[in-house]
Amino acid sequence: GIIILDFGSQYNQLIGRRIREFGVYSEILPYYTPIEDILIHEPKGIILSGGPSSVNAEDAHLIERKIYELGIPILGICYGMQLTSKLLGGEVTEGKKGEYGKSEFNIIKDNAIIKDLPKNSTVWMSHFDEVSTLPDGFELIGKSTNSIACIANDEKKIYAVQFHPEVSHTEHGSSLIKNFVFDICNCEKNWELTDFIQTEIKRIQKVVGNKKVILGLSGGVDSSVAAVLINKAIGNQLTCIFVDTGLLRKDEGDKVMEIYGEHFNMNIKRVDAQERFFFKLKDIEDPERKRKIIGNEFVYVFDEEARKIENVDFLAQGTIYPDVIESQSVKGPSAVIKSHHNVGGLPKEMNLQLLEPLRELFKDEVRKIGVELGIPEKLVYRHPFPGPGLGIRVLGAVDEEKVSILQEADSIFIEELYKNNLYDKVSQAFVVLLPVKSVGVMGDERTYEYTAVIRSANTIDFMTATWSKFSYEFLELVSNRIINEVKGINRVAYDISSKPPATIEWE
Ligand code: XMP
Repeated sequence: GIIILDFGSQYNQLIGRRIREFGVYSEILPYYTPIEDILIHEPKGIILSGGPSSVNAEDAHLIERKIYELGIPILGICYGMQLTSKLLGGEVTEGKKGEYGKSEFNIIKDNAIIKDLPKNSTVWMSHFDEVSTLPDGFELIGKSTNSIACIANDEKKIYAVQFHPEVSHTEHGSSLIKNFVFDICNCEKNWELTDFIQTEIKRIQKVVGNKKVILGLSGGVDSSVAAVLINKAIGNQLTCIFVDTGLLRKDEGDKVMEIYGEHFNMNIKRVDAQERFFFKLKDIEDPERKRKIIGNEFVYVFDEEARKIENVDFLAQGTIYPDVIESQSVKGPSAVIKSHHNVGGLPKEMNLQLLEPLRELFKDEVRKIGVELGIPEKLVYRHPFPGPGLGIRVLGAVDEEKVSILQEADSIFIEELYKNNLYDKVSQAFVVLLPVKSVGVMGDERTYEYTAVIRSANTIDFMTATWSKFSYEFLELVSNRIINEVKGINRVAYDISSKPPATIEWE
């Protein structure tokens, strides 16, 4: 496969993803990996990633020059191009104004690396330094508006681009990477997610040895897939801690135990912490305070349980690639709209090492792996569920009674979505319980009960969303069932707000 040497660019995981989409294995290693260790992977090509620093800085991230003499094709991207130029006798200088964002790429000379690219196209740039003198033996292949954008040494099979072919804003970036991978490195398509499973199992076994691992199992896709995968690798050296906060969906706790505990025979410690959560949440109405309380309490409970397990060395987490980007973002702290919380605090003094087998995967890949590992598709393709759970879907003060009313209503809605073949047509659907009581009439009796709201969103990235256009008949069916079957609700409303300006959740 292809080895990507990581110089710290926020995009380098994308390079790996692009290559894997072509069906070729790729792995990301830190730039300081010794050459012998790189060679163990028998790479057919090496990519030098972008990075935030300057090759002229005193403490610049460097590599051994020898890497260019191995006979293995190399593609330098951004910083990787500047590094290649500097190490091979070219010159890199501080540009006058740098280039950030879209730029035009003009091809000057034909070359295998730019095969099938049009003469002019849009590329994504993010650099300040630039190559001012070409390194020895290199030809100029293309320029951008302000700088040298593509160079090549065909004899040594060394290529470099100043722009980022891995980001989608670079129009033909994918073709460029494809040219490198297939035409220049002669890779074959042989990477499948099943290979990922096998490789990852071996890696986990090697890293963990005979030590112990704990994992916070939430029942969500990511932590479940991570748990099953790690369990496949090391069996009962893994202990899962499943905290039942009392804020989960109807029967969720039992279902988690049934599938993961019994079916997969995993070592799961179920912690019934409902009372603690309800106690802490008593009379708290402010959404942000509720979120903080739930998040903190979760960490306390998890900590306490983790400490009871002796000789643990690793904390496993279902971190996936989008979580990694979010936490690495160089954009700086954007305004907190809602404080998100995810499962798994890290007990500090326990000095645990992190084990994150899914950190290079996207959600769709994680789902495919889940199915491959034997987790029922219905679970793997479930809608997302927020960390604070029903705690933010019972609006205002949360108590056990309200949660249980909401659980009943929600499970009816979800059941009807499945029955009517609508579940997979919407991105996220749930019921919200309002602290509003209104008057109704049932039989000859006057009622005075809560109002439930049906919420369903269609979205690609959860950043923007529209409300689902269900038929009146379907809405009527759900409303009738909820009002008739759930004690405590006598009125149902449908949320027809888009995001923005509304959010998907109500709190
Ligand atoms: P909003 O309400 O911000 O939600 O439009 C966008 C998506 O994020 C989910 N969400 C959360 N997920 N922890 C999570 O893991 C949280 O604290 C959290 N809050 C919201 C929400 O369900 C929707 O999918």
